[in-house]
Amino acid sequence: MERAAAIIPAAQVEEQLEHCRAIAGLTGQWAGEKPLAFVDTYGCQQNEADSERVRGYLEAMGFGFTNDEERARIIVINTCAIREHAEQRVFGNVGALVHVKRRHPDTLICLCGCMVQQPHAAKKLRESYRHVDLVFGPHALWRFPEMIHTLLTRRGRMFLTPDEPGSIAEGIPVVRQDSVRAWVSIMYGCDNFCSYCVVPYVRGRERSRRPEDILAEVRQLVGEGYRDITLLGQNVNSYGKDLDEPMDFSDLLERVNAVPGDFLIRFMTSHPKDATLRLFETMARCEKVAPALHLPFQAGNDRILKVMNRKHTRAEYLEKIRQLKELIPDIVLTSDIIVGFPGETTEEFEDTLKVLEEVRFDALFTFIYSPRQGTPAASMDDPMPREEKLANFNRLTALQDRISEEKHAAYVGRTARCLIDGASDDERYDLTARTPGNRLVRVVGADARPGQFRDVRITDSNKWSLFGELI
Ligand code: SAH
Ligand code: SF4
Ligand code: F3S
Repeated sequence: MERAAAIIPAAQVEEQLEHCRAIAGLTGQWAGEKPLAFVDTYGCQQNEADSERVRGYLEAMGFGFTNDEERARIIVINTCAIREHAEQRVFGNVGALVHVKRRHPDTLICLCGCMVQQPHAAKKLRESYRHVDLVFGPHALWRFPEMIHTLLTRRGRMFLTPDEPGSIAEGIPVVRQDSVRAWVSIMYGCDNFCSYCVVPYVRGRERSRRPEDILAEVRQLVGEGYRDITLLGQNVNSYGKDLDEPMDFSDLLERVNAVPGDFLIRFMTSHPKDATLRLFETMARCEKVAPALHLPFQAGNDRILKVMNRKHTRAEYLEKIRQLKELIPDIVLTSDIIVGFPGETTEEFEDTLKVLEEVRFDALFTFIYSPRQGTPAASMDDPMPREEKLANFNRLTALQDRISEEKHAAYVGRTARCLIDGASDDERYDLTARTPGNRLVRVVGADARPGQFRDVRITDSNKWSLFGELI
């Protein structure tokens, strides 16, 4: 795609901020206390990052935040379309908001994110969810203030889901949800078109933020005390392909690593097809890059990988893992797997189990295949009954539970430099922390603050997490 056309001129983002100020003028005249907004997010970290921008704009409009829909003057639901279940939850919860709208007709109900970018979902909202005032897709998010301004000054509903390759807008304010860990989008969109996946259709073409903008954001975050920074993209390994200045993701990692300060760098997601030896060497060399890699392989059978359009084989994947383990022996590996892709037989599924045995991932994100309208896989023959898919799924999770339990048990007795990131919700433990590889540790010991790196002796474990005490 034409890069220049993707970049939103600074003056246009400034116009949006003017809309925010105008809205703040309006809301300032409303009777009562500071107006509140409710923002709910479904889906992945990209969506979390987008919601932080929505909150940033809302704050600039003079809004505070609440977790109670009844008290909110603006409700924003940021939706996900990755699986059927994600959509059903959104429709269920949005349906229930009809009562809130009845009690508070002035409350603006807004839906954004990936789900609404699909024409069939937008149509359903338009026709059957008439209490929804505003619907806008990921490409229109940067224009949120302008849309709210219009809705506050005239009656009616608004739908803005342009079908476009997507844009890059710098300078949108953000209100972050955490004070230790932060998301930094480095690129948007996806060009891979895996045959089961809706993301390329709803998030547009791949486009990279300029390294200067990314580095400025990282420097600011480190200055504000953030200690764990995750670089985000659907496939970070294709970072930079569209930049004027030739650079790739390894170059970017090197430059982020050079930002002064004591912090960890993580990134997700990596696509195996272009996770290179150069990337692994860069990870090994850069001391701030966490020893962790999320490398989805989806399926262990080559025929299935091919129909999934993943563009790599099982052998290539395993070879990459071998190289990586050789360079970083304590690497923490996680992956995504789909069970029950159309036409996958139980025998082919067993190749996935073999990959688990061989790689021994620390944790997995496992999904049963869900057909997505408009994707090639949705029209493929899918003869396997649901019970058989479920049985395979259960075999997969049982195997991974055993491996996770064993891998966690191997930490017991060791000491790890962990990042304290919050208070524990379990009363037997004071704090939660993360190992460099991002495993969760519940910690006994009160004399630590979130944001500190502390040595923790691991004393116990289960399949989900580790337990330890501050040294
Ligand atoms: N860009 C990332 C994945 C983002 S989606 C990557 O390529 O690795 C997160 C995960 O959701 C995918 O890795 C896949 O395992 C799962 N997923 C995507 N589409 C799906 C579908 N139609 N049904 C079930 N799982 C799906
Ligand atoms: Fe979806 Fe594949 Fe893109 Fe990941 S790489 S977002 S699975 S199309
Ligand atoms: Fe869902 Fe969109 Fe992320 S479909 S998983 S929120 S990119």
